[in-house]
Amino acid sequence: MILTAKKLSDLSDIASQLIANAGDNRIFLFRGDMGAGKTTFIKSLCEALGVKEPVTSPTFAIVNEYQGTNARIYHFDFYRLKNQTEALDMGAEEYFYSGNYCFIEWPEKIPDMLPLHYISVSLKVLNDDSREITIGKI
Ligand SMILES: Nc1ncnc2c1ncn2[C@@H]1O[C@H](COP(=O)(O)OP(=O)(O)OP(=O)(O)O)[C@@H](O)[C@H]1O
Ligand SMILES: [Mg+2]
Repeated sequence: MILTAKKLSDLSDIASQLIANAGDNRIFLFRGDMGAGKTTFIKSLCEALGVKEPVTSPTFAIVNEYQGTNARIYHFDFYRLKNQTEALDMGAEEYFYSGNYCFIEWPEKIPDMLPLHYISVSLKVLNDDSREITIGKI
């Protein structure tokens, strides 16, 4: 499915629909260039799940944890990972198989650790404010 967010404020409706249609899926992979809008869209998804605390890029911490209304969310950014062993060492697999939401930026950095099933979200810059969002299920 390909959607267009014409402006930033379109993300909240798209996020609510994605959560509503995700079924039992809790693992979401976000692909797209730097600045494509991965963290920004994850912020909208967290808001849709009832997160009240600030959602920021976990680039330095690798993982942030948030509490939604009925869900716990782990937000990863693997951009700075040097190798996949670092992800193993931080317990990434425990998070992935915990049954909680996992929103993963830069999954390309952990190709051998990806869960078998996930929702894939790819973002592409169309212009300053608009993004093409491609959503698929693997
Ligand atoms: N429709 C839109 N959707 C998403 N982001 C948008 C949109 N319009 C403008 N933006 C802006 O684009 C920027 C996206 O930055 P963001 O940090 O979310 O990118 P990222 O993909 O997470 O990058 P990185 O790979 O560095 O983590 C933000 O400044 C955001 O405000
Ligand atoms: Mg980001």
